[in-house]
Parts: sequence; structure tokens; C-alpha cells
Amino acid sequence: MADTGASRSSNSADGDALIELRGVERTYGSGHTAVRALRGVDLELKPARLTVIRGRSGSGKSTLLGIAGGLDLPTGGRIRVGGRDVSAMTARERLLLRRTEVGFVFQSFGLVPFLSAAENVGVPLRIAGIPPQQREERVARVLEEVGIASHARHRPAELSGGQQQRVAIARALAQRPRVLIADEPTGHLDAETGLLIMRLLRRIVDSGTVTVLVATHDARMAELADDVFDLRDGHLRPASI
Ligand SMILES: Nc1ncnc2c1ncn2[C@@H]1O[C@H](COP(=O)(O)OP(=O)(O)OP(=O)(O)O)[C@@H](O)[C@H]1O
Ligand SMILES: [Mg+2]
Repeated sequence: MADTGASRSSNSADGDALIELRGVERTYGSGHTAVRALRGVDLELKPARLTVIRGRSGSGKSTLLGIAGGLDLPTGGRIRVGGRDVSAMTARERLLLRRTEVGFVFQSFGLVPFLSAAENVGVPLRIAGIPPQQREERVARVLEEVGIASHARHRPAELSGGQQQRVAIARALAQRPRVLIADEPTGHLDAETGLLIMRLLRRIVDSGTVTVLVATHDARMAELADDVFDLRDGHLRPASI
């Protein structure tokens, strides 16, 4: 994790929370078909912590992560990222926010099938306008970090699920986010491979530059976390582990 963060601007205005949710509500639809997925959620993500959100299927984990990362807006309450009010931002500002502050990892990896591991990691950097040499160096470094440097030229179909997830994590880290948001990152992996991915996330946090927020069904993930919350009936509560 050599120089991750070197180019970040410091724009955290209030306290040291990277992401702050206050009374966040999210209702899908309206009338009697409305689904109240989140019913007043408070959450503060501090630097260099691994936070796990547990909850059964349909409990609102993905909804919460999407809002925390600026993919979606709450229907009530407030969300601040780096001290800035996300609901007051334009769609373009939120897009920039996602590019600069937040990296996403999903259970289905989301890699481009006809690109190599290195190319998958490099594409967002190219979109962000990083010059070629700097890009190559950064790609090599993050692939090394996630332990997949020897497979840089492999395409996703030539990689195992765990290796594909490492590439997806590398792709997210390459943009040097302050917060890495992972929605069921081990959901498509066997138990042993899932554990290795969790340990990788733990190591990334321990390197001191990134905060990680994970949603999971997996009880073992909680053992590696600094903070564990349970999401139930649209409410988030600290877990009694
Ligand atoms: N785009 C949508 N439109 C309507 N309802 C939605 C939408 N997305 C989610 N929901 C509903 O909101 C609730 C929470 O869904 P969410 O996907 O956040 O749960 P989850 O905890 O991530 O579930 P899983 O563990 O299965 O991924 C569910 O009742 C779901 O049906
Ligand atoms: Mg989900």
C-alpha cells in the first residue's frame, strides 16, 4: 500500500468520519406496495477500520451500501462523504465522488471478460486520465498488493473465483479510494477462498490507508472486523458478537 493517498485532498470538514449517515431512510415505490428498506440508519465510518454489516437476504444491506457510496440517494435523512452533503450534489458531482473517494467490489466480480487482469485494473485509471506510465506502475503495484501479480496477463475466465475477486479489489484500490465498499465479496466463493479474501481486506485496512465497509451473510467475516452491525427490519444496531 505504498503511496495510496498521497494525492488526496483533505476535505473532511467535520470530525474524522469519512462517511456519515444520519437517520437515513430508503423507501422503494409508493402507496401500499412501498418497501421501507431503511428506516432511520445512523452510521459513521472512521479511517482505517473494517466495518461489517450483517443481515439476512432482503434486510437492506445493498441498499445501505449503495447510499453510503453515493450510488443511490436516501429518501430521508442525511449522508455526508468527506464532510460533504451528498444529497446536495448534482449527479455529476456524485459520479466524481465515486471515482475519487469510494471504490466498489461486488460478489459477481464484474470484470470485463475479454480484458486481462492488468487491463481490467487499468481501464478506470485511463478513464480518470492517469498517464500511461503512471498507470502501468499503479496497476503493477495493486496487483502485487492483492497477490495476483503473476496472473496479470490472464483473462477472467483463466482465473479462479478468488483470483477474480482479487483483481476486482485491485481495480477498486487502484483509484486510491478512502473507502472500499464490498457487497458480499465472498458470496460466490467457497469457504476457504472466502476466508482468504476476508484476510486480504483485513490486511488492506491494516495497511492504514483505506477504510473497508463489507456487507455479508458470512458470520466468520465478523471475526475479522473492527465494528459489526446487524441490519434488521430497516434498523442498524451494533452487534452483540
Ligand atoms: N430497486 C428496487 N426496487 C424495489 N425494491 C427494491 C429495490 N432494491 C431493493 N428493493 C427491496 O428493498 C429491500 C432490501 O433489499 P436489498 O437488496 O438492499 O437487501 P440485501 O440485504 O442486500 O439482500 P441480499 O442479501 O439478498 O443481497 C428488499 O425488500 C428488496 O426487495
Ligand atoms: Mg444485497
